[in-house]
Amino acid sequence: MTKLRLVPLDDTVVFPNMDVTLPISVGNEDLVFLVPRHEQEYANVGVVARVTNRVRLPGGMKAVAVSGLHRGIAGAASPDGEGRLRVEVEERPDVDPPRDRTETIEREYRAVVEEILELRGDDGRISAFVRSITSPGALADTAGYSPDLTFEQKVELLQTLDVVERLELATRLQRERLAELQVRKRIREDVESGTQKQQREYLLRRQMDSIRKELGEDDASVVDEYRKKIEAAGMPEAAREQAERELGRLERMGESTGEASMIRTYLDWLIAVPWSQRSEERLDPVHAREVLDADHAGLDDVKKRITEHLAVRKLRAERGFKDDRKAGVILTLIGPPGTGKTSIGESIARATGRKFVRMSLGGVRDEAEIRGHRRTYIGALPGRLVRALRDAGTMNPVIMLDEVDKVGADWRGDPSAALLEVLDPAQNHSFRDHYLDVELDLSQVLFVATANLADTIPGPLLDRMEIIRFDGYTTAEKVAIARGYLWPRQIERNGLRPEEVTIADDVLQTITNEYTREAGVRQLERELGTVLRKTATRIASNMATAPVAVDLATVRDALGRQKFFAEAAARTAVPGVATGLAVTGVGGDVLFVEVATMAGAGGLVLTGQLGDVMKESARIALTYVRSHARQLGIDERAFEGREFHVHVPAGAIPKDGPSAGVTIVTAIASLMSGRPVKRTVGMTGEVTLQGRVLPIGGVKQKVLAAHAAGLTDVVLPERNAPDLEELPQDVRDKMRFHPVASADQVLDIALEPDGVLLAA
Ligand SMILES: Nc1ncnc2c1ncn2[C@@H]1O[C@H](COP(=O)(O)OP(=O)(O)OP(=O)(O)O)[C@@H](O)[C@H]1O
Ligand SMILES: [Mg+2]
Repeated sequence: MTKLRLVPLDDTVVFPNMDVTLPISVGNEDLVFLVPRHEQEYANVGVVARVTNRVRLPGGMKAVAVSGLHRGIAGAASPDGEGRLRVEVEERPDVDPPRDRTETIEREYRAVVEEILELRGDDGRISAFVRSITSPGALADTAGYSPDLTFEQKVELLQTLDVVERLELATRLQRERLAELQVRKRIREDVESGTQKQQREYLLRRQMDSIRKELGEDDASVVDEYRKKIEAAGMPEAAREQAERELGRLERMGESTGEASMIRTYLDWLIAVPWSQRSEERLDPVHAREVLDADHAGLDDVKKRITEHLAVRKLRAERGFKDDRKAGVILTLIGPPGTGKTSIGESIARATGRKFVRMSLGGVRDEAEIRGHRRTYIGALPGRLVRALRDAGTMNPVIMLDEVDKVGADWRGDPSAALLEVLDPAQNHSFRDHYLDVELDLSQVLFVATANLADTIPGPLLDRMEIIRFDGYTTAEKVAIARGYLWPRQIERNGLRPEEVTIADDVLQTITNEYTREAGVRQLERELGTVLRKTATRIASNMATAPVAVDLATVRDALGRQKFFAEAAARTAVPGVATGLAVTGVGGDVLFVEVATMAGAGGLVLTGQLGDVMKESARIALTYVRSHARQLGIDERAFEGREFHVHVPAGAIPKDGPSAGVTIVTAIASLMSGRPVKRTVGMTGEVTLQGRVLPIGGVKQKVLAAHAAGLTDVVLPERNAPDLEELPQDVRDKMRFHPVASADQVLDIALEPDGVLLAA
């Protein structure tokens, strides 16, 4: 074992075959032992090196040139007489393994290195040097030359004595380097192509500038152009000052910067606001009524409310009452789809001579949609209100806020807060869009909102609204609408002339009842469209000659089999099923409550996506029937050891609310008594544990649905009886109403008498 002078190398690794110059003095030593060190910690493998030269550095310091020979493992160390450390070194020159063990990795290593050198732009010298190395151990050590390897990685390489392992390690390290270099290259290329694009744009802009100059449209004339437009826009003082300030900036900045184009966009928007434009408003209630009548059949209530609203405005205007900022209310039209809410909004605009813009709020979750983004955002734009005003071209349009019940709040802020400000007459004369950042006077706008349900409109908004309900149409009303509006419109859409096709009322009625089930008339219009499209095709292809009368056969041919049936009779033929009436987002509907029982521990299973309130109704219903069994003529013992299952189809649609209470009671009582529910009866009402029937909402929509479904008897809470006055006379004439105060009254009316068995 040799004892050599220890030369610590701080954060440096020297490999065999490397020549380095170190700023130290080593006395007369021939061989030294170079050991990497990091913060006083030594590696356990070092390199035995020969001192090849002693030099004196400029400035008088001594230095030695050493050349690495081979690896050695450091053993015990002790100071010599002069206080320098000497270590015992177990010398470990590389032992070349058999060729076949290294051949493949060697090839791989060389390939990776070649690629790295290519990426680095090597002039061929280094790669020639690498190629000249034949011993695999030395080849692996060339990785140590790399400036990209960390100190730790180099130490690891040094400490790997086994040549095969070392070569593998070196390959891995070089491969990582290669990957990194490739990424770097890609980034560099991206950046370069970016700057090239910028240069290109710059050149194009310069060319554009000179073309402009040729045409006499230099920067100055762009600015002049804006100045003229601002002049013409008739802005209020504050907006005008703002516009001029921005124009000044534009002038100073010149055309070609990115900032300038942002200023131009801003100015374009500011000018686009119709600051000084107003439509001459007509507030004549008689004229308004005429227009409303011309556009829509029926809806008498609605039209009355609208004309009243206009009459009041007219009086206030005529008598010079100042705008009362507290009195303004927002007309809000609430009702099922396709009942004409949006289209009556358009009529209001027409009736009052204002422009009409629709602003759909469905799914708006971001306050910035309403109010715009601040200009500091990249790609900022004004909010929808400013855009609506631009589209209208006047400051006093009718703006329809469609689907206010479908705005939602989330982390981006609450759009209803912005809406609140817009709709509040006390605030909306100074609305501030974040982007424009000047005050806008919205007090001249007539806002009309629409919604399918009032439940989901945020409370504070609802508070400021004057609600007009659309409850849906009866069959007779639908036929009248079809005759007067939908049919003529579809005739025109399908390229026909009115005298070319005719249809009888009873055919229209069949289409309404057998092919549609809806509160409104959208589906009906679509079906009529389908019928007319087929007719148009036949006329165009000479298979029929005008005039064509559309009869039932034509309808069946065009629309296929009947789509909707009066199901109540078939469904309620067995005990345990009762017909309820409900209101959903699409209007009134009938729903069937089914109850079954089986042996079990006395639980209650509920299915059909019932909400919490409806689930509680079911529990109350079961408890009520059970606790009043004797009184209802049911054997009390029949409940013992039995489990109940209540299901409300259609199973996929979520349902909630307390108004199914009487229906569930009836279904359970029907099942337990074996008496089926009368096929003509539909019912609604909340039930208490004592069996009192409490009032519910949506009577008109529910009765219309019952009527449409072919029911003739409606059981409803006594206290809802006054609501029946809202129903059209023809429906009132055809239906029997049974106001009730208690659940046993419901059962008396709804259940078939004892012992009657019905054929389905
Ligand atoms: N009473 C009516 N008279 C004439 N046409 C009507 C009447 N009611 C509805 N319509 C027509 O039915 C179609 C659908 O109406 P509209 O789009 O206004 O429904 P909506 O109530 O806004 O529905 P949604 O809640 O789905 O938005 C329109 O083409 C409209 O002209
Ligand atoms: Mg609509």
